[in-house]
Amino acid sequence: NEDQFKKVISHAKEYGYVFQSSEIYDGLSAVYDYAQNGVELKKNIRDYWWKAMVQMHDNIVGIDAAIFMHPTTWKASGHVDAFSDPLIDNKDSKKRYRADVLVEDYCAKIEAKIEKEVKKAEKRFGDAFNKEEFISTNGRVVGYQEKIDSILKRLGQSLEKEDLADVKALIEELDIACPVSGSRNWTDVKQFNLMFGTKLGASAESAMDLYLRPETAQGIFVNFLNVQKTGRMKIPFGIAQTGKAFRNEIVARQFIFRMREFEQMEMQFFIKPGTQKEWFDYWKDARLKWHKSLGLGEDNYRFHDHEKLAHYADAATDIEFKFPFGFKELEGIHSRTDFDLKQHEEFSGKKLQYFDHEDNASYTPYVLETSIGLDRMFLAVFSNALVEEELENNTTRTVLKLPAVLAPTKAAILPLVKKDGLPEVAKQIVDDLKWDFNVTYDEKDAVGRRYRRQDANGTPFCITVDHDTLEDNSVTIRHRDTMEQKRVKIEDLKAIIKAEVDV
Ligand code: GAP
Repeated sequence: NEDQFKKVISHAKEYGYVFQSSEIYDGLSAVYDYAQNGVELKKNIRDYWWKAMVQMHDNIVGIDAAIFMHPTTWKASGHVDAFSDPLIDNKDSKKRYRADVLVEDYCAKIEAKIEKEVKKAEKRFGDAFNKEEFISTNGRVVGYQEKIDSILKRLGQSLEKEDLADVKALIEELDIACPVSGSRNWTDVKQFNLMFGTKLGASAESAMDLYLRPETAQGIFVNFLNVQKTGRMKIPFGIAQTGKAFRNEIVARQFIFRMREFEQMEMQFFIKPGTQKEWFDYWKDARLKWHKSLGLGEDNYRFHDHEKLAHYADAATDIEFKFPFGFKELEGIHSRTDFDLKQHEEFSGKKLQYFDHEDNASYTPYVLETSIGLDRMFLAVFSNALVEEELENNTTRTVLKLPAVLAPTKAAILPLVKKDGLPEVAKQIVDDLKWDFNVTYDEKDAVGRRYRRQDANGTPFCITVDHDTLEDNSVTIRHRDTMEQKRVKIEDLKAIIKAEVDV
């Protein structure tokens, strides 16, 4: 819902989570900066992933490959030839669109039409109405549905060149009001490569054309044998990596959902050919469990299996999350076969094979990939956490119910008043706790307002130092979500916080 999404974006700014990049120059489209709290939340998500993938698996290790890679990498991977979006220009409005997104918009309109027909019929038939039967037998509705199915089939994950000529025809055929209603003056569909180019080297003649990596995965593929040999890894094993990736996205909307500079968390799992189905199921299950462990709501996830597969894959699924604008891809799980390693063997002329001692044979491993956008995960966590709560006294409070393990600040230490030695005691608690957690000190405003500020900031605990503290060394600890307050000993604080924020 649009209002909720607007609230998410403004809250992210107001509380120091996400700023538009170069804001004083009116920003840069689809590029964002993480602010003082955002950087902590992002780091905590990255750590939570790394812990689950690398620390908890004795057969998965990490690397940090460079963003720059030899340009042949991207020829081998297929990105030079095939990593592009289909674009179409409208000559009247002089606007440029992504052809597939435009058609998706048309599909949404058709779906709305079907919905309308169904509602109308429901009214007419009353209790006797059977929705499934109506949809499958009503001529007009069946026609609409067929149209959508045929379009979506063609506009699956990997649009191919031959499909694109059809897009224009479809746009014209489906004369339904859309971004540029009534307009028919379209150009041909053109392929637009999403990679950012740059140059390495100073002199014009010798400079080498490079790309900023559009995915981190290739840094893992080209290092496969180095890691396997030096780490004495036995198949099955995985290599994990987090890092920046860059794509010159044309449709840049929805805040940090689709960015031009973003961060990926990817893991390539090298397996024996023939075992890919088993590992595909294993990683689907493992990754969904990871998501659910954060408690963002079991019903907010679903799998979307790809019918049309990318050239490198023999199976693929997305884990979709319910964002404020609907279910959208959060993570991809791809069975990539031996496509990438074989390509790199061919283009580099180097063997990238594994010798299996059990089978006494060499082979090019198959690869199972899990790939999640860190920024997209940030948006999932953040948008899910932001709630407005009605309180008993008819007021509302804004709370950012971040999972405690991910919250940027774990506790705020608040002296009840700014005198009588209370600030000194509070600061001593800060000094003791900061070795273990991010904590903050706040003495400004009435304590109720300070609680609200910390609620909106997502801080799981507020610890208040009052005059009794001076007598009995105990403080009040308030829980963000329940607002319950308890009296506890200062010396027990560390254990109490640890129990909630540790995984
Ligand atoms: N190595 C496989 C790969 O890159 P992908 O489906 O293109 O696959 C994987 O990307 C994940 O990266 C997506 O599920 C999404 O979370 C994230 N991602 C992709 N493009 C993005 C963008 N422009 N902005 C933010 N996140 C993006």
